[in-house]
Amino acid sequence: MATITVRNLDGKTKQALRERAARNGHSMEEEARLLLNAGSILDHENQTFSGSVDALKVVDEASNVSVDPNYPARGKTVLLIICGGIAAYKSLDLIRRLKERCVKVRVVMTHAAGEFITPLSVGALSHSKVYGELFNREDEQDIGHIRLAREADLIVVAPATANIMAKISHGIADDLASAVLLASNGKVLIAPAMNPVMWNNPATRRNADTLEGDGFRIIGPNSGEMAEQSEAGRGRMAEPMEIVSEIGRILDTRAKPLLGLKVIVTAGPTHEPIDPVRYIANRSSGKQGYAIASALSAAGAQVNLVSGPVNLNEPEGLNCIRVESAEEMFQAVKSSLPADIVIMVAAVADWRVINSADEKIKKKPGSRNPVSLKLAENPDILKFVGHLDQRPELVIGFAAETQNVIKNAKAKLKRKGADWIVANDVSPETGIMGGDNNKVKLLSSDGVEQWPVLAKDQVARRLVEKIISYFEAAVIDV
Ligand SMILES: Cc1cc2nc3c(=O)[nH]c(=O)nc-3n(C[C@H](O)[C@H](O)[C@H](O)COP(=O)(O)O)c2cc1C
Repeated sequence: MATITVRNLDGKTKQALRERAARNGHSMEEEARLLLNAGSILDHENQTFSGSVDALKVVDEASNVSVDPNYPARGKTVLLIICGGIAAYKSLDLIRRLKERCVKVRVVMTHAAGEFITPLSVGALSHSKVYGELFNREDEQDIGHIRLAREADLIVVAPATANIMAKISHGIADDLASAVLLASNGKVLIAPAMNPVMWNNPATRRNADTLEGDGFRIIGPNSGEMAEQSEAGRGRMAEPMEIVSEIGRILDTRAKPLLGLKVIVTAGPTHEPIDPVRYIANRSSGKQGYAIASALSAAGAQVNLVSGPVNLNEPEGLNCIRVESAEEMFQAVKSSLPADIVIMVAAVADWRVINSADEKIKKKPGSRNPVSLKLAENPDILKFVGHLDQRPELVIGFAAETQNVIKNAKAKLKRKGADWIVANDVSPETGIMGGDNNKVKLLSSDGVEQWPVLAKDQVARRLVEKIISYFEAAVIDV
C-alpha cells in the first residue's frame, strides 16, 4: 500500500494538501489516504490531484507531525500482541493513536484474536505485516519470534486475556504470542480485559501477582459496564489513550531535571455557592494550570494539582485534587504542603457569599424586593504561602489583569511575597481567558520579561525551563 510522508512534500504541495483536507473536514493523513486510494497525485498549481501514485515520494508518518510532537515514544518500536477478547476492537484505535504519534507498530495476533478482528484491518492500520503463526517457514528462517521480541522497544499485550496471563505467568510458549513473550527480556506492558468474574478468579489474581512480581507492568483493567448484558465490575480494558500515555511514560528517556522536587499547582476557577444549584464563578478554563502541571511532571517533579471545576481530563502521572470553592482550594493547598515549588495559576474568587442558602432560592411572585447577596473576602492563598515560615523555595503567582498589567503585577509580587509573577492581560479584546494561547510577562526581582503570544503548553514549557535554570543556579550557589 502506498503511503505519503507530508514532510517530504514540497511546501506548496503540502499547503494544497492542508487546504484540501480542511475543506473536506479531514485530517491531512485521512485526505492523503483517500487520494492514494483513488490513485491520484497532487497537482499544486491547480489544487487538483491526478496521475499515478508512484509519482509521489512515498511517505508515511509525515502527515501526523502535528499530533503530540513531544510524545516520548515517538520513533520507537512497539510490538502489540492482540489476544482473543471482545476488547480486541479497541486495539485498532490503539494502533491508530500510536501511528499518529509516529510510533512504529508491529503486531502479533493470537488465533483467538482473529475471531474478533481481521489481520487485514490490523495490517492496514499498522502499515505492516501481521504475524500469527509460530511455525511459519518464511518468518522462522531467522528465528522470527526471537527477532520480534528483541527488535521492540516495548511489548504491549492489549487486550490481554486471562488465558495469555496464565500462560506467561507459567512460562508456557505454545503459540507465537506466548513464545515471543517468553523470549523477551525487555519491557512488557499488559492491558487485561475480561469478565469481572474471570478477573476476580483466584487463579487470575495469582497470575496477575506473579506477572507483577516478574516485572511486567499492568495497566487496568478499569471498572464499568461489560459487553455482557447487565454485567458490571472491574474488567474493562484501559482506554487506548490511557495505554498510549503509559507507553509514553515507560519509553520516556528524557532528562528529569526536577526529579525529587515537590510542586503544588492550582488551576481553574472556583465556584462560590449562592444556593445548592447556583454559584459565582469566572471564565478560567484551567488549561494553563493543567499545561504547567503536565510540563512539571514531564520534567520529573512530583506534582499535586489542586483543580477547581474544569472540563479537562486529569493529566496522567500526577496527583489531582478536585475542589469547588476557594476555601476548599485553600485547605487542599495547606494539606499538600510542604513543597519546594508552589505555582498559583487558579483564578480564585476574591469573595464568597456569606448568606448562601441551604435550599434553592425561589422567586417570590409579585415581590419587587431585590435578592441581596452578602460577600466576604476569601482567604488569600498566594499570600499565605508567600509568608509561610517554612516557605517553599520558589513561589509563583499568576496575575490576570485587564488594565495596568505591569504596575498591578509588580504590586502583587511585593504584597503576596511571591518570587515571580506571571502576568497576563485578560481584557476581553485579547480573547485570552479560556482560549488556547496566552501572552504573558514574567516579573521577578530581575525585572520584566515579555513573552510573545504562545500556545498555553508552550508557555508552560518555557516557565518550566526557567524553573529548571533557577534550581540549577541554586545548586551551583551552594
Ligand atoms: C465471545 C467471546 C468473548 C470473549 N472475551 C474474552 C475476554 O474479554 N477476555 C478473556 O480473557 N477471554 C475472553 N474470551 C475467551 C478467550 O477468547 C479464550 O480464552 C481464548 O482461548 C483466548 O485465546 P488467546 O489468549 O490466545 O487470545 C472470549 C470468548 C468468546 C467466545
